[in-house]
Amino acid sequence: MFSKLSTRGIASRLGSVAQRTQPKESTAVGTENSRSEAVFAREQKYGAHNYHPLPVALSRGEGVHVWDVEGKRYFDYLSAYSAVNQGHCHPKIIKALTEQSQKLTLTSRAFYSDILGEYEEFITKFFGYDKVLPMNTGVEGCETACKLARKWGYVKKQIPENKAKIIFARNNFWGRTLAAISASNDPSSYAGFGPYMPGFELIDYNNVAALEQALQDPTVCAFMVEPIQGEAGVVVPDEGYLRKVRELCTKHNVLWIGDEVQTGLARTGRMLAVDYEEVRPDILILGKALSGGVYPVSAALCNDEVMLCIKPGEHGSTYGGNPLGCRVAIAALEVLQEEKLAENAFKMGQLLRTELSKLPKDVVTVVRGKGLLNAIVINPKYDAWEVCLKLRDNGLLAKPTHGDIIRFAPPLVISEAQMLESIDIIKKTILSM
Ligand SMILES: Cc1ncc(COP(=O)(O)O)c(C=O)c1O
Repeated sequence: MFSKLSTRGIASRLGSVAQRTQPKESTAVGTENSRSEAVFAREQKYGAHNYHPLPVALSRGEGVHVWDVEGKRYFDYLSAYSAVNQGHCHPKIIKALTEQSQKLTLTSRAFYSDILGEYEEFITKFFGYDKVLPMNTGVEGCETACKLARKWGYVKKQIPENKAKIIFARNNFWGRTLAAISASNDPSSYAGFGPYMPGFELIDYNNVAALEQALQDPTVCAFMVEPIQGEAGVVVPDEGYLRKVRELCTKHNVLWIGDEVQTGLARTGRMLAVDYEEVRPDILILGKALSGGVYPVSAALCNDEVMLCIKPGEHGSTYGGNPLGCRVAIAALEVLQEEKLAENAFKMGQLLRTELSKLPKDVVTVVRGKGLLNAIVINPKYDAWEVCLKLRDNGLLAKPTHGDIIRFAPPLVISEAQMLESIDIIKKTILSM
């Protein structure tokens, strides 16, 4: 798979990654303050250097806002990569967490708990699948889906032993484990961590002909894809692509795995991003906002035909399906529904994109997205990192990706007045460039 990348391609991608991860000096107000500086310095000294955070040290969050250690307030336009869809410290979710934390937190799956079944019934009816397999992080949910698909491939599709293939879309992102990076074509994810997982192949995203060709191979058990590629920079496929994916996977007896870890749970203006095309993946993966940002909860959902291929002892996790996570997830899903957050994301997203489109094209060359999962592309003659530092100074937190893209994804509880106030900050910042 990796041999398909030209050396020049790899070198230039590494170049941009190196640029991205260079620590940059900032003259911004926040970094001059000693309390923030102390936070940065301690993390730098004692923590692994596997992230390059924007220099801001947060200590509190509520709704669409976060506060730094000096008490300065910001709009959170990242929402912890769409985990905090329900807003920071949502009272209903925190209540569920605190109440359950005083009763029972973890049993492991060696025993039954009185909550797991309630949660399983709730979430399967919510999304219309027979069964759920509970896990913790998004990458575990994705890995679970890959294992389910391989097992189904051997048990039901009669693929010869150890020959099952899973197809992924180029520029996918589903986490940082060895399996996840084996599906990646981004050198900053995979380089230096080989050897890689066999049986993974890549095709272009949003390319129906490439998918049709890949699915001819009878050893393919699944195609895993994000309805909108989030980490790639909010790449929205053509309308009709997901319907075509559904049609082709059915035709070739291949499972469609929908990775809605980032796009799911009202973020794009529908409960699931696939709802826009009224289609349903065979395996649905959820994570992030499934707990509203308070606790790691993820899930793989599918029907019995697939789920029952895995037998006792063949997959699991000590914390997966724990009582605390189950209570939190029920509350998090109820909040999405009770507060009509998909509808709000749809409306606020339209307002945001309309206003962003009025910005000078010389600075913001592209505005794209659905609901409140959006990105702007900054003209390469400006530095997206500098734009984010200025946004921070003006009271809004966002993070660049791939050098020139800035994602705008505030919590979905944002009101129209807050939307307009935050748009003003963006306008002011861009016009000052
Ligand atoms: C689409 C998608 N899938 C999976 C993951 C992995 O989730 P986690 O970081 O919780 O493991 C991410 C994380 O950003 C994601 O965007």
